[in-house]
Amino acid sequence: MENLGENLARSDLSDHHDDHAFDAQARDAVYRAIFTRRDVRGQFLPDAIPDEQLARVLNAAHHAPSVGFMQPWDFVLVRAPETKARVHGLFEKAHAEAAEMFDDERREIYRKLKLEGIREAPVTLCVACDRDRAGPVVIGRTHQREMDLFSSVCAVQNLWLAARAEGLGVGWVSIVDAEALKECLGIPERLTLIAYLCIGRVSRFFDKPELESAGWRRRLPLTDLVHEEDWGGSCGEALGTALGDQQDRIAAGAFGG
Ligand SMILES: Cc1cc2nc3c(=O)[nH]c(=O)nc-3n(C[C@H](O)[C@H](O)[C@H](O)COP(=O)(O)O)c2cc1C
Repeated sequence: MENLGENLARSDLSDHHDDHAFDAQARDAVYRAIFTRRDVRGQFLPDAIPDEQLARVLNAAHHAPSVGFMQPWDFVLVRAPETKARVHGLFEKAHAEAAEMFDDERREIYRKLKLEGIREAPVTLCVACDRDRAGPVVIGRTHQREMDLFSSVCAVQNLWLAARAEGLGVGWVSIVDAEALKECLGIPERLTLIAYLCIGRVSRFFDKPELESAGWRRRLPLTDLVHEEDWGGSCGEALGTALGDQQDRIAAGAFGG
């Protein structure tokens, strides 16, 4: 495996420890988790997840940043096959409705995609956001009310990356009616559904997003998405070259699997 931490940082002082950077190996591990994380739907193994391991990924979620340190998240762990079957029923209903929203050509592709692993994953996890957790006025949420929701999404991402490092796959299932799902799990109405995640050991992690392999969408060139100084400014040549080169190396699997 090429050392991506070093690789991506080639032009900085990559091995200076007094600048608070991780050493190259540790940094490489972080990037490896980021670049090899996948949304997993069809590769779950039935093995139970040990509580110690589950606790680590939940703690990763709980150490996410949150607006005003609200920690607005709650986690509902669902392992019972009967409950998962009910959630799967909600998915099937939403999935059928969703298919009707695409044009004929896309609908056929959409129907063939595997978009959840609810019954196969040994553990599923519902993440909800309690927007009232820290009272009505929250530092940082005063002018952007949705920041508590964004914070909860940060928790999901922390969990997702920690899970990847643990060898656990995570699949986010959002094709489900949020209120029906809350009711199914007894989550109070005043909470907001953030995510329903399928978690478990996997037979494999794919190299690329499944939607990319299925020809649904491609990863966009990062240089098109980085603007300098204002919206109208495109990214400078040196940065553009670095972004493009790195993106190519990442796509070529420079970080291992
Ligand atoms: C908010 C959110 C909701 C998603 N909902 C679904 C879903 O319902 N079903 C599914 O198969 N994938 C879902 N995904 C996964 C995306 O399709 C996936 O992240 C994307 O195709 C890129 O693939 P990757 O995560 O493997 O890199 C969701 C991802 C996010 C961030």
